[in-house]
Amino acid sequence: AGIRRYEWEVKNEFKSPDCYQRQVITINGRTPGPTILAQQGDTIIVELKNSLFVENVAIHWHGIRQIGTPWSDGTAGVTQCPILPGETFTYKFVVDKAGTYLYHGHYGMQRTDGLYGSIQVSVPDGVTEPFAYDYDQSIILTDWYHKSSTEQAIGLSSKPFGWIGEPQSLLIQGRGTFNCSTLNSLAIVPGLCNTSNPECSPYVLTVVPGKVYRLRISSLTSLSAFNFEIEGHNMTVVESDGNYVEPFIIKNLNIYSGETYSVLVKADQDSSRNYWATSNVVSRKPQTPTGLAIFNYYQNDPQKLPPTMPTTGPLWNDSDYRLAQSIAIKARQGYIHPPPRSSDRVIILLNTQNQIDGYLHWAVNNVSFTLPSTPYLIALKDKLGNVFDQKPPPQKYDLVNYDIFKKQDNANATTSNSIYKLQFNSTVDIILQNANTMTPNNSETHPWHLHGHDFWVLGYGKGKFDPNNDPKKYNLIDPIMKNTVPVHPYAWTALRFRANNPGVWAFHCHIEAHLFMGMGVVFEEGVNKVGKLPLSITGCGKSKVYYRP
Ligand code: C2O
Ligand code: CU
Repeated sequence: AGIRRYEWEVKNEFKSPDCYQRQVITINGRTPGPTILAQQGDTIIVELKNSLFVENVAIHWHGIRQIGTPWSDGTAGVTQCPILPGETFTYKFVVDKAGTYLYHGHYGMQRTDGLYGSIQVSVPDGVTEPFAYDYDQSIILTDWYHKSSTEQAIGLSSKPFGWIGEPQSLLIQGRGTFNCSTLNSLAIVPGLCNTSNPECSPYVLTVVPGKVYRLRISSLTSLSAFNFEIEGHNMTVVESDGNYVEPFIIKNLNIYSGETYSVLVKADQDSSRNYWATSNVVSRKPQTPTGLAIFNYYQNDPQKLPPTMPTTGPLWNDSDYRLAQSIAIKARQGYIHPPPRSSDRVIILLNTQNQIDGYLHWAVNNVSFTLPSTPYLIALKDKLGNVFDQKPPPQKYDLVNYDIFKKQDNANATTSNSIYKLQFNSTVDIILQNANTMTPNNSETHPWHLHGHDFWVLGYGKGKFDPNNDPKKYNLIDPIMKNTVPVHPYAWTALRFRANNPGVWAFHCHIEAHLFMGMGVVFEEGVNKVGKLPLSITGCGKSKVYYRP
């Protein structure tokens, strides 16, 4: 196994990913940042210089379990102090499993400023994958706002509440097209929105007729759930979140923020023309035009627009369609890691929208999550005492009386930074239970992401989870392992994982605004088994102040 060393500089720059110029965060001048290409077993070393003017930063390696290196998880407030402007911080970790992963900012809501990229880990020498392809390409889907994350954060933490609203455009591999003519010409500086800026020309994937493409499609949206489609071409799903999937053929893919999928696509259609590749908003009423890329058959002009209308995806509110696709994902035969037959502990997490002192929040079991000023990993490992709330958060909600189909009568919640302490090596079940929001007849989709682990997806169901009967329907035969799953509107999702990775791990909704508003929890397991923490992660709250050049 090799060592891959990167030097990254994180900066504020003006960019026009969708033709509208705004302040973004780049890595070495780019958004999306450079793709990390590695082989299973490699050690990745990223020397990160924070050259932002005033903001802290931290980068999370999404899907990498950080076995033995929990301090490299990059979650500000959980596993490290944020990196201050002017400082350089070194991340070092092993990519121990082939697959498709991501990285992104994990301080505030900086991911929405364009601070993200792909990690592509190939199989070790001598190992072949259970499917064949000619080319391999990562494509990240995002939604895009014209307001910076700071402006969005101000709105979310104000009274009256300022919602971020629907995105202005949808980006495919960092490119989109905003319709500049919808702006009031007096409101913008001339040239600020310019559809002929090459920065925002649509992403082009050039394919050679007859060849098979492995497309590593991932989503790092701020808010939206997507349906992705390549006009006229079926896709065969073969991998998700670094785990092989029993192949299944789809016309379009529902994908939630934080998920990754490898799909195989054969360039077997009329090669005299180009086709659209599209992302469409689902689950929320779309107010953003379709995201467009060009699937370009080699020898056609890459700029040549397809002769057809872009595909518009399934009905945005057809949650049965999406639930069915979630259920269809199974572990690949021959690559099944069977889950433990039973669990030691069940934690039921009710997802609700709440109010605290007139501020709007999200909460689980009526507790809205906040971060302590001293990161948990340092507080627990170095025994810094009561730097966060010591009372454990609730294990479940009122299963008997709570009506998940109704807006709750008393929406008041509390904030807390307390965490779930898991017994090391125990098996834990998590039930994510969705419910009505503060708006009547409304329930949203929440993609939940677990740091430090893959979990088995034991099942999905509609309505309220029944602890006596639903576990009997769990898939214990061939459930896929993932690190991100959706909980569908008015539905539940059941997961199981082994608490076998010493450290402190965030588990949260991957919608930036929801996490910011408190939709997350933290698990601790075996922290006494964690090796000596690097001093470089300290320097905030009650943790040592260490001189970082
Ligand atoms: Cu990709 Cu904690 O998130
Ligand atoms: Cu959410």
